[in-house]
Amino acid sequence: MSTITAASSGSFTIGGELKVNRLGYGTMQLTGPGVWGPFPDQEAGVRLLRRAVELGVTLFDTADSYGPGTAEELLRKALHPYPEDVVIATKAGLTRFGPGQWGSDGRPDYLRRQAESSLRRLGLERIPLFQLHRIDPTVPFEDQMGVLKELRDEGKVAHVGLSEVGVEELERARAIVPIASVQNLYNVAQRDSEDVLRYAEAHDIAFLPWFPLATGRLARPGGPLARIASHLNASPSQAALAWLLRRSPVVLPIPGTSSVAHLEDNVAAAALNLSQDDFEALSDPFS
Ligand SMILES: NC(=O)c1ccc[n+]([C@@H]2O[C@H](COP(=O)([O-])OP(=O)(O)OC[C@H]3O[C@@H](n4cnc5c(N)ncnc54)[C@H](OP(=O)(O)O)[C@@H]3O)[C@@H](O)[C@H]2O)c1
Repeated sequence: MSTITAASSGSFTIGGELKVNRLGYGTMQLTGPGVWGPFPDQEAGVRLLRRAVELGVTLFDTADSYGPGTAEELLRKALHPYPEDVVIATKAGLTRFGPGQWGSDGRPDYLRRQAESSLRRLGLERIPLFQLHRIDPTVPFEDQMGVLKELRDEGKVAHVGLSEVGVEELERARAIVPIASVQNLYNVAQRDSEDVLRYAEAHDIAFLPWFPLATGRLARPGGPLARIASHLNASPSQAALAWLLRRSPVVLPIPGTSSVAHLEDNVAAAALNLSQDDFEALSDPFS
């Protein structure tokens, strides 16, 4: 029996340089409750990340704030030295004070310190993709983009990405530093970022939809996709991910899970090729 791998989702080359299988993995579930503290079962976390690599996942999304720090440390523990084709995408710019408590900090000195800490925690000499988690409205935009450019020029980060931005911000940012990726909230049920996705498509920028499963709501057996998914002989989660893969070749979904069984279920979405009719049937309930 052949195993389906993430390679069946096709590939995308981030920033014209980092080739990844399109179906990736997000590490936010590999933390304690409320994205706070280390994942309670470290060995299980290691097994899950190694299983993801075995299944052909090459794009791993993380952040300094997941834990904080602990998701990056777990990635290092599980995968270092990283296989050549693995791309680690981390972020900085959101701070954590406790479970559910987030703030933003885009001061250049802070972002630089966080990039340097991520390099140490991940055991990397260069961060392949460094994303600004949020634009901080209290810090001049040019200063935040300026430090991202400096980190890139110094070779500490290879490519720069942004998160939760609009088209106008993307355009302003690109006048200062090349932008390889954008990470916005997007899934079949929540498509407010269509304009950003279209912009990404037009400019060959990777679009990483966060909450691809609407935090699990779309993956539920009795959830809104359950009926159509069963017609496709797929799980609801596979239908949600296949919809994203079909939506645009620049979309790189990063579903999160703490379970190997769910990881395997999600990766198998890579082989679910939706027809135009299937795509529309899945879109319809939310249009
Ligand atoms: N840029 C940003 O501001 C931002 C914000 C949020 C998230 N993110 C990124 O986006 C990634 C994805 O977001 P997310 O993990 O919060 O939400 P998500 O991927 O939409 O959903 C994850 C939830 O779905 C469940 N799940 C996953 N696969 C399943 C399956 N096959 N069957 C049933 N349930 C399933 C998981 O539970 P189990 O653990 O039980 O499988 C978990 O509760 C994060 O890991 C992070 O990397 C970025």
